[in-house]
Amino acid sequence: MANVTLHDMHFEPYLGEAEVAHAIDALAANVAKDYANKTPLFVGVLNGSYFFASELLKRLDIPCEITFVKVASYHGTVSSGTVSQLIGLNERIAGRHVVVLEDIVDTGNTIVHIMEALREQQPATVAIASLLLKPEAYKKDIPIDYVALEIPNVFVVGSGLDHDGLGRNLPGIYRLATA
Ligand code: XMP
Ligand code: MG
Repeated sequence: MANVTLHDMHFEPYLGEAEVAHAIDALAANVAKDYANKTPLFVGVLNGSYFFASELLKRLDIPCEITFVKVASYHGTVSSGTVSQLIGLNERIAGRHVVVLEDIVDTGNTIVHIMEALREQQPATVAIASLLLKPEAYKKDIPIDYVALEIPNVFVVGSGLDHDGLGRNLPGIYRLATA
């Protein structure tokens, strides 16, 4: 893996493709065990989760469904602050076992909004699976049930994650170069 430049920023190799694949193997085994008889509905958060969603689902030999949503953020009234809306959730999730798929959980602000929106529709259960978690940055109480890889508080790209649109297609994970 060589260094890459995306727009004006330089990134260095951090985790190889095999290491990422190995971590997803372990996560998938846990999900398969926990959801064997539940026909879960996976809800991937676009755009970043497409890679993780695909890699996870091809490892699952249990009955399951998948759909994708987008999160649109806009500023509401002063009291409500930033409001987030889930776009594209056409499935009925009432009574379903839902597993949200994220590329990365950083501060957790995004996942909090997603969980609120999903719980309004009364699924039987909602869990979160994320390819990456930054434990030093995460400040919320909601448990992140399945995490493939924990990483330090650095900006990363690759395996679905982007810098201003670029880098999602890079195999493995790259981190912002220090020099
Ligand atoms: P929060 O802070 O809401 O952030 O948990 C989640 C969203 O922020 C983006 N994000 C990143 N994107 N490299 C990226 O390419 C990163 O290191 C990174 N950290 C956060 C991402 O869109 C995620 O869904
Ligand atoms: Mg994202």
